[in-house]
Amino acid sequence: MNNLRLGVNIDHVATIRNARGASYPEPARAAELALAAGADGITAHLREDRRHISDADIEVLAALCLKRGKPLNFEMAVTDEMLGIALSHRPRAACLVPERREEVTTEGGLNIVAGHNHIAPAVQKLRDAGSRVSLFIDADPVQIRASAEIGAQVVELHTGAYCDAFRAGEADRAEAILARLRDGAALAGQLGLEVHAGHGIDYATVTPIAAIPELAELNIGHFLIGEAIFIGLTGAIQRMRALMDAARTEAAA
Ligand code: PXP
Repeated sequence: MNNLRLGVNIDHVATIRNARGASYPEPARAAELALAAGADGITAHLREDRRHISDADIEVLAALCLKRGKPLNFEMAVTDEMLGIALSHRPRAACLVPERREEVTTEGGLNIVAGHNHIAPAVQKLRDAGSRVSLFIDADPVQIRASAEIGAQVVELHTGAYCDAFRAGEADRAEAILARLRDGAALAGQLGLEVHAGHGIDYATVTPIAAIPELAELNIGHFLIGEAIFIGLTGAIQRMRALMDAARTEAAA
């Protein structure tokens, strides 16, 4: 079974900062703490409307991750503007996500089939710049196969629907979505893709997700930043890391 990395998404530190138009709390300080607490990388989503992470944050985070020898996972919409920014920073990892201005958060996966003609050149340019390209998709076999064909090295499977169903107490629906995630991860692994997962993960949902053997990375943000209010970011990350490790050990036994 793979080692399972934890990427900590620090977008919502910027959300709190921006709610006041203040200069704090600083996402970079959260990134430093997250890496010290055991995060394997930092994830940040520069949205078109700059509602949380800013261009200046990306500059600082890119420099910080480079200094610490850890990857910055740059989440981005497939637009010329974002591609230009990504190519200027050459992040170790770029994750292409769908983005709609009116959404509260990334609501579903990218449609690689419908978007092939504009996604394919973006994947190629990012790869040429040395970034590992990940596509954020639903665990749909059609999208997984299309991701492999388009030349992505990684797929990140959207776990939001599973986490929502689990929290709503809809056990049967949650189990069915989890089965789809498992099958999707297995298919992606067979196709030679590295498999990541993320969205909506908390302490309860991390265990079944982390037990999926093909997964190499989880990206978690909102829950960790919220939990940090109560127990601190270090404690929240350490607890998440411990749950991930325990799930892995148990699944391997
Ligand atoms: N992975 C991707 C591709 C995302 O877009 C997000 C949300 O920005 C996450 C992971 C993290 O989701 P959450 O903040 O719900 O943990």
